[in-house]
Amino acid sequence: MSTTQHVVTDFFSQGWGWYVAGATVASIAFCIFLIAATAKQRLPGNEKGVSTTGHAWDEIEELNNPLPRWWVGLFIITIIFGIAYLYFFPGLSTHAGRLGWTQTTQYQDEMKRYDESTKPLFAQYASMDIQQVAADAKAKGMGERMYLTYCVQCHGSNGKGSMGFPNLTDKDWLGTGDADYIVTTILNGRQAVMPPMAAAVGTAADVENLANYALSLSGAAHDSLKAQMGKPKFGVCAACHGNDGKGNKQIGAPNLTDDVWLYGGGLRTIQHTITEGKQNNMPSFGSLLGGDNELARAKAKVLAAYVWGLSNDPQAK
Ligand code: HEC
Ligand code: HEC
Repeated sequence: MSTTQHVVTDFFSQGWGWYVAGATVASIAFCIFLIAATAKQRLPGNEKGVSTTGHAWDEIEELNNPLPRWWVGLFIITIIFGIAYLYFFPGLSTHAGRLGWTQTTQYQDEMKRYDESTKPLFAQYASMDIQQVAADAKAKGMGERMYLTYCVQCHGSNGKGSMGFPNLTDKDWLGTGDADYIVTTILNGRQAVMPPMAAAVGTAADVENLANYALSLSGAAHDSLKAQMGKPKFGVCAACHGNDGKGNKQIGAPNLTDDVWLYGGGLRTIQHTITEGKQNNMPSFGSLLGGDNELARAKAKVLAAYVWGLSNDPQAK
C-alpha cells in the first residue's frame, strides 16, 4: 500500500469517513423524501380550482402547479445515478466500490500504458555503449530533458554544481566516472560519510596544522611550517583519502591533491570538515524513473550518457 493510500485510509478510519458517508446517505434519503412528499401533497384550490400554496403578494398568488414531469424525471435519474455511483465507486468511507477503482490504480495504469509506449524509444539505446548514446542527437535531447527535470535543482542548469553538489562537467569524479558508475548513481543515489575527526587528530592546533598539510597537497596557499607539523597526523585520514591523499573512489573519499573542492577549500572550511565531519547524499532516482526494471535502467542510461557527455567528447575516437 502506498503512503498516500495509508494517509487516506487512516483519515477515514478515524471517524471522519463515517461522518461524511452519513451526511451523503442522509442527503440522498432527504432528496427521496422531498420528491415523494411533494408528489403526494394536495393543497386547497382557489376559486378557479387551481391549488395555491396560500402565498400571495400584491394579489399575485403562488399557484401550486405540479412540477413538470421531465423535471421530476431528471431529479429521480440523478438520485439513481448517485446511488449507483456510490455502489460502483469508492464514495462511502472505506467501502472500496464494486469496480475496485482507485485514483492510484488509474494513475498506475496510465503510467503503465505510457511506459509501454516509451519502451521501444529507450530500448534501442540499451545495447549501445555510452559513447554511441552520447553521440546520438535524439538521445541527447531526451537526456537533457530528463536532466532539466530531475537534476538541475542540485547540479545546476549548466551541470557545474555548487557548494556540496559536485560539478558534473569536469573529469574529477568522486567515483569512477564511467558509464556504470553514473547509471548506478542515478538509480541508487549516493551517500558520503566522513566522520568527525577532531578526537582522532588531537588539539585545535593539531587540526589547524593538519588542515595546512591538506592544503599543501594540492599546492594551495598554506603555512608550510604548520603543514610540516600536521603531516604526521594525516595517518588517520589515509584510511579513506589514501597515504598520498589521492582519495578512494570506492568509498567516495575525494582526491585532496587536485585543486577541486566540493566545499570550496580554504583553511577554515577544511578545519571545519576535519572537526565536524561531512555527510552528503544524493537521493536515488530509480523509483522516479519507474522502479527496478529494464525501462528505468534504459532511461538512466540515456540520462547518464547526457551527463557523461558533459565532460567527455562523444566524437572522440
Ligand atoms: C537533491 C540534490 C541532488 C539531485 C536532485 C541530484 N543530485 Fe547528483 N549529487 C548530489 C550530491 C549531494 C552528490 C554528491 C554525493 C557525494 O558527496 O558522494 C551528487 C553526486 C552525483 C554524481 C557523482 C559525481 C561525482 O563526482 O562522482 C553524479 C554522476 C550525479 N550526482 C548525477 C546526478 C543526476 C544525473 C541527477 C538527476 C537525475 C542528480 N545527480 C540529481 C545531489 C543531487
Ligand atoms: C571514513 C573515511 C574518511 C576519513 C577517515 C576522512 N575522510 Fe575526509 N572525506 C571522506 C568523504 C567520504 C568525503 C566526501 C564527503 C562528501 O562527498 O561530501 C570527505 C571529504 C573531505 C574533505 C572535503 C573535500 C572537498 O572537496 O571539499 C576534506 C578536506 C577532507 N575530507 C579531509 C580529511 C582529513 C584531513 C581527514 C583526516 C583527519 C579526513 N578527511 C578523514 C571520508 C573520510
